[in-house]
Amino acid sequence: MANVAIIGAGFIGRAWAITFARSGHTVTLWDQDKSAPAGAIGFISDVLPDLAANDLLNGRSPEAVLGNIRIEDELSAAVAGAEHIQENTPERLDVKKAVFSELDAIAPEDAVIASSSSALLPSHFTETLAGRHRCLVVHPINPPYLVPAAEVVPAPWTAPEVVQRTRELLNSCGQAPIVMKRELDGFIMNRMQGALLEEAFRLVADGYATIEDVDVGIRDGLALRWAFMGPFETIDLNAPGGVRDYAERYQGIYENIFNQTQRRVDWTGPVMDTVEHDRRQVLPEEKLAERQAWRDRRLMALVAHKRRAAKDIGE
Ligand SMILES: NC(=O)c1ccc[n+]([C@@H]2O[C@H](COP(=O)([O-])OP(=O)(O)OC[C@H]3O[C@@H](n4cnc5c(N)ncnc54)[C@H](O)[C@@H]3O)[C@@H](O)[C@H]2O)c1
Repeated sequence: MANVAIIGAGFIGRAWAITFARSGHTVTLWDQDKSAPAGAIGFISDVLPDLAANDLLNGRSPEAVLGNIRIEDELSAAVAGAEHIQENTPERLDVKKAVFSELDAIAPEDAVIASSSSALLPSHFTETLAGRHRCLVVHPINPPYLVPAAEVVPAPWTAPEVVQRTRELLNSCGQAPIVMKRELDGFIMNRMQGALLEEAFRLVADGYATIEDVDVGIRDGLALRWAFMGPFETIDLNAPGGVRDYAERYQGIYENIFNQTQRRVDWTGPVMDTVEHDRRQVLPEEKLAERQAWRDRRLMALVAHKRRAAKDIGE
């Protein structure tokens, strides 16, 4: 079992704490705001019973998981003995640079230092560090205790052994690491999500579909398969002869489409008036928080179902 230090105990830090602690790892929490770790513990205490009810604590009790997490007031105490440090401070280059510089100076020599950065490339805030070989990005999808995929993004100087150790740690938590061969803006998941969103906005902006119909196309269409298969496995199974057969049969359809998609849509331009109006018709602004709680319950049920189905039907 590893000692993991969580630096920055906001939305993502508290969620990582659950992810590591329910797998038996020991977690320390530290934040510049001294009230944040206690707030994180409060959140974690509220969520653990729901996770237990959905069999998402690896057979551990909420008390046992909570017992693996402790607050440290001093940064040096939080990272002492840590094998893995997960940084979750605000998405600002100046903050990441300052925090990484401090962590590299005081962390045990063989500790891996990972950032949850959503978009900042690891090379942009680790280049000048003496220990830059042990720094990388581990980008989760919120919340990582429900969504297993996490992008492991090395800087050009990150040691392969550090990438490997990070992959093993994530696997030990039941996460699904996506290990990038090298860094790239948007990593993998935001690039794919961006391509889909751009097309969704274009379809609405050009008057071909309502936002509800675009949502139905994903929610009641493509996403049913995407909940347990990626796009490559999907096409491999969608033509009698597999992927090559699929590409030979259907590439022509897409070639024609791609010529029509070479123009950017401003998401905050006139199309937003339509998108926002239509969303607020079905969900008034004051109901957003209620619906977010609904989303989290649906997500938890889906994750529990995926685990059960993988056991009952096989992966
Ligand atoms: N929220 C998401 O959906 C999401 C998803 C993936 C990745 N991320 C990334 O995770 C990181 C954290 O985001 P978040 O949503 O948890 O933000 P947040 O605002 O909820 O939490 C940030 C925490 O960092 C603390 N902090 C601020 N400056 C600090 C410093 N110098 N040292 C130590 N702690 C400091 C704050 O007190 C706060 O508790 C960002 O890089 C973000 O891009 C967020």
